[in-house]
Amino acid sequence: MLVLGIESSCDETAAAVIEDGRSIKSSIIASQVETHAPFGGVVPELASREHLDRIVPVVKSALSEAGVSIGRLDGIAVTKGPGLIGALLVGISFAKSIAYVAGKPVVGVNHIEGHIYSVAFENPPVEYPALALIVSGGHTTLFLIPEEGKYAVLGRTRDDAAGEAYDKVAKLLGLGYPGGPFVDMLAAQGTPSAADLVFTLPRMDTPNLDFSFSGLKTAVLRFVREKGIDPVAVGAEPGRIIKDLAASFQDKVVRSLLSRLKEGVRRHQPRTIIIAGGVACNRELRARSMSEDFGAPVYFPSPKLTTDNAAMIAAAGYPKLLRGEDDGLDITASATLKIENLSLEGYEAPLKARYKH
Ligand code: KG4
Ligand code: ZN
Repeated sequence: MLVLGIESSCDETAAAVIEDGRSIKSSIIASQVETHAPFGGVVPELASREHLDRIVPVVKSALSEAGVSIGRLDGIAVTKGPGLIGALLVGISFAKSIAYVAGKPVVGVNHIEGHIYSVAFENPPVEYPALALIVSGGHTTLFLIPEEGKYAVLGRTRDDAAGEAYDKVAKLLGLGYPGGPFVDMLAAQGTPSAADLVFTLPRMDTPNLDFSFSGLKTAVLRFVREKGIDPVAVGAEPGRIIKDLAASFQDKVVRSLLSRLKEGVRRHQPRTIIIAGGVACNRELRARSMSEDFGAPVYFPSPKLTTDNAAMIAAAGYPKLLRGEDDGLDITASATLKIENLSLEGYEAPLKARYKH
């Protein structure tokens, strides 16, 4: 089954053709990073315009690289949210037009569900129940997935997303945008304990597994001000103190993510653990989670599938298309689309009994 995926929720225009949900025939990503970098973040109006310019050539390249004509497609999957409304509408309108003209089924896909399916390509099939930690620029959420397509939220960030905290800290230090890769690289050259006293892990003794990163970001800001650190000078040549600061910040973020994940694993004994979203590129998060004994395998997407792409959208649409779903012309964009379709309330106890192993 050949599925064309289309993604345009933020600052990447992407299209991909995948076969049978697990094999990538092509994956084209046109990044707008250079357009938004001078502003230190995504400018929605510029994003929509650039998607409009790129969508046709990107989809054409995906089809030609896969050697597939529109007529041979079995269906189309397109991101319908969450994301920037104007940006989403470009992908949705284009996907609907192709589907209408070619008489193909089209399904709307949740972007976060796409990130969850980004592990479909280079790992064994996911076994359920699964836990998914989605860490990106816009989201930090821990999901329980008792069976395919069913999502309950175990915890989410109460303020900044993990990637957002990385981006803000990088901006404070004049390190460029998006900041995660820069902080990650510097952290590898620093010693976390050197600046350790400055940052403490947020305490969240609540039954749910929520995250919080804004306190950590504020602590970095205070540190930068107290030490009189000049971001312009740092951007040119980061010194020892910046490397230690990056290492300390990263250590706290990763520890905070893993502590919630471990507690989720203890409570729900999953058969697979998924860590995905842009921050899943992080060297430290990968290394530490691979060395943990969770009692279940940890699946990461490969680095090129970690940030936004359309292969993951096609993979998430595949089971829907396989079931014969067709959203047709009814797909609408939703900036705040949720994927949770299960409440944890009253679900935890039966779940434990059902899946004890
Ligand atoms: O999933 P993604 O491409 O877009 C969203 O849906 O948000 O994630 C982008 C985020 C950015 O905040 C970026 O700084 C972060 O992922 N990121 C990283 C790393 N690479 C990308 N954060 C930490 N370490 C990295 N190596
Ligand atoms: Zn994303």
